[in-house]
Amino acid sequence: MSTRVFVLMFLALMAKTSGEAPKIKLNDGNEMPALALGTFLGMENGVIVSKENELVNVIVEAIDIGYRHIDTAFIYNTEAEVSKALSTAFDKGATKREDVFVTTKLWNTHHQCDEVEEALRSQLNTLGLTYVDLYLMHWPMGFHSNNTYSDVDYMETWKGLENAKMLGLTKSIGVSNFNKEQLARLLAEGYVKPAALQIEIHLLNVESELVSFAQSHGITVMAYSPFGSLVKRFGQMFPGPKCDDPALLPIANKYDKTVPQIALRWLVQRNIVPVFKTLNHSRLKSNMDIFDFNLTDEEMKILGSFDSDTKYTLPSFWQDHPHYPFKKIPKPLPSPFIN
Ligand SMILES: NC(=O)c1ccc[n+]([C@@H]2O[C@H](COP(=O)([O-])OP(=O)(O)OC[C@H]3O[C@@H](n4cnc5c(N)ncnc54)[C@H](OP(=O)(O)O)[C@@H]3O)[C@@H](O)[C@H]2O)c1
Repeated sequence: MSTRVFVLMFLALMAKTSGEAPKIKLNDGNEMPALALGTFLGMENGVIVSKENELVNVIVEAIDIGYRHIDTAFIYNTEAEVSKALSTAFDKGATKREDVFVTTKLWNTHHQCDEVEEALRSQLNTLGLTYVDLYLMHWPMGFHSNNTYSDVDYMETWKGLENAKMLGLTKSIGVSNFNKEQLARLLAEGYVKPAALQIEIHLLNVESELVSFAQSHGITVMAYSPFGSLVKRFGQMFPGPKCDDPALLPIANKYDKTVPQIALRWLVQRNIVPVFKTLNHSRLKSNMDIFDFNLTDEEMKILGSFDSDTKYTLPSFWQDHPHYPFKKIPKPLPSPFIN
């Protein structure tokens, strides 16, 4: 056997056994693993926190399986658990800091330019890290500390993120929940181009226009809530296709996969990084098992045919904010963020 064939076989074997997602090159030269484990556990009289280290254990196991991208945020109240999980994984030699991609987000009450560095330093302290890989502006809307609206311009906030990157507190910077106009303005007026845009995308919310716009500018798109109506989310079932959908099930069966797996694969083939959450061990494994098959163009079209512009994260209680990114609705929901 020639050395070349041996090396190729070795690399193929490593790729199969390591179980890691491939990496995507960001526009600033950094690399992001193409699948992320989310850590938002939902809201119920405030943000839900996991009991008995449940999330810590899930993250440690995720790293053992091969996950190398963890998504958290100040507002999820899970950064301390991410910290515990990472230090456990580092201590037992499961991975090294430089091999894990950590994304976290700036909350809306720290949007003044000079508040960003302080907010990130405090989050780094909770995370037990000296830098994060990606720091996202969670929303374009700023708030005062008592949760009343601040009219601070998100371009001011962006300057704060640019500064944090320059200081080495984060390797890359980006935004979340920005609409096309807001993203276009960031591109036109910002100094650093956003490396990533994190938005809600699933079968009922395909976001073709915003995704094409971002990708045409070299911005990597990340999809939160990637399972949409297929699964129970925070204990609730939403209308829309389910895991036994007659159009989706035959496609999943063809590849010996489940419908949630093909929903993730549909995103990966659109060059989108899915960010999902699970606390279930077998789903943690199966959600990573999506890199060994390819949906055909016809199948991609079928998955894309359910679009109805349906968002689950629709904070209409903020819709009078000058930088609210979504369409207003006639009867806004009451805010869970009342002081
Ligand atoms: N940037 C933002 O504004 C924003 C907003 C929302 C979320 N996010 C991020 O995105 C992450 C995911 O969002 P999400 O929780 O809303 O949506 P999701 O991942 O689409 O849905 C989570 C639900 O799916 C279930 N699930 C996971 N894998 C499954 C599978 N293979 N089969 C059946 N059910 C499965 C989970 O239950 P089990 O735990 O029981 O498996 C959980 O109830 C969050 O954790 C957060 O990191 C970001």
